Amino acid sequence: MTIKIGLIGCGGHGRQRLSKILNNFSDLVSLVACADTDIVAAQATASEHGYLKAYVNYKDMLEKEDLDAAVIALPHDLLKSASISALHAGLDVFVEKPAGVDSGEILEIIDVENEVNKSVMVGYCMRYNPARKKLKELLDLKSVGEIIQIHGHKSGSQLGTWNAHMKHGGGQLRWHGVHIVDQILWVMGNNLPVNVYCETRWDKVLGSDQDSAFSIVFDNGISASLTVSSRTKQNFDVLEVYGTNGRIRSEWPSEILEIQGNGLPDYHNLTRITPDSPDYMEMYTIQMKAWIDSMLEGTKAPIGTVDALKVYKIIDAAYKSADLGKSINITGLS
Ligand SMILES: NC(=O)c1ccc[n+]([C@@H]2O[C@H](COP(=O)([O-])OP(=O)(O)OC[C@H]3O[C@@H](n4cnc5c(N)ncnc54)[C@H](O)[C@@H]3O)[C@@H](O)[C@H]2O)c1
Repeated sequence: MTIKIGLIGCGGHGRQRLSKILNNFSDLVSLVACADTDIVAAQATASEHGYLKAYVNYKDMLEKEDLDAAVIALPHDLLKSASISALHAGLDVFVEKPAGVDSGEILEIIDVENEVNKSVMVGYCMRYNPARKKLKELLDLKSVGEIIQIHGHKSGSQLGTWNAHMKHGGGQLRWHGVHIVDQILWVMGNNLPVNVYCETRWDKVLGSDQDSAFSIVFDNGISASLTVSSRTKQNFDVLEVYGTNGRIRSEWPSEILEIQGNGLPDYHNLTRITPDSPDYMEMYTIQMKAWIDSMLEGTKAPIGTVDALKVYKIIDAAYKSADLGKSINITGLS
């Protein structure tokens, strides 16, 4: 028996990336239907990837098709309503990051998720990047001792479509910033963020945030600093952790991992691990397999709405801090 999937949003990510991966898992999933307000995109996605039917209205798809799960890749201001519609239709959901436009929207999804007892996975794919997984593994083995400080950087080229407009939930913090915040929270485990201070350079034409530098302080006193930019032209995602015994750094897309730490004998000297031919896109395949496995096993999605809520508490506070020019306390997490 395969999981019957409907795709909502046949744009860059839904059509070219996620559908291609799902199609490779044809022993585990059936691609039943896809939907996009641009019917040409929906029909092209169906014919390229083998969805049996294309819809212009995803609500019609949810009503008419016999589905087990929905994959949602829409502009940010539409992610929440589509997730809630799919949950109400009785489906498990994979929704792309950041799952909404603010923490209030994530709370709305959580309410419905609990009510219908279905599971929502949120697409924080970088946790499945092989070099990043190795970094986490080495941190858990105390290769660099106890964590003292973290630095994260995420950047790419200028946002140019709906994602550049605040009214669609755009802006660089929501597009790229959420990824690096999620990874910092992942590394910090059960520690909760308590304070955020952020300064932002705004795009004067588009009105959205372009470059930001901010800090997060956690309840155990550890601090993280982050920089996010729209002006590097190429995409970068870097995470560097300093500990009581050394430091470790992982770069994407180069997949280079550097470590020097006294916690494990192999890494007393600076060690640079460079893959022969890095597949910097492999994380998406690992991510979708993890989601499929969670549905087959009937377990909660490995990265869920509570993770997305924590990320958004920080992003909301970063926007507020940039606006008010002061640090913001995080409330509502425990
Ligand atoms: N995890 C990652 O690395 C990654 C990378 C890129 C994008 N994303 C995420 O994927 C999501 C989509 O981004 P994208 O780059 O594919 O955007 P996109 O603009 O390329 O695609 C969005 C699609 O949604 C369609 N759409 C708009 N309104 C609709 C509606 N009411 N019903 C159905 N379809 C509608 C558009 O026609 C378009 O085809 C976002 O959440 C984004 O953050 C994630």
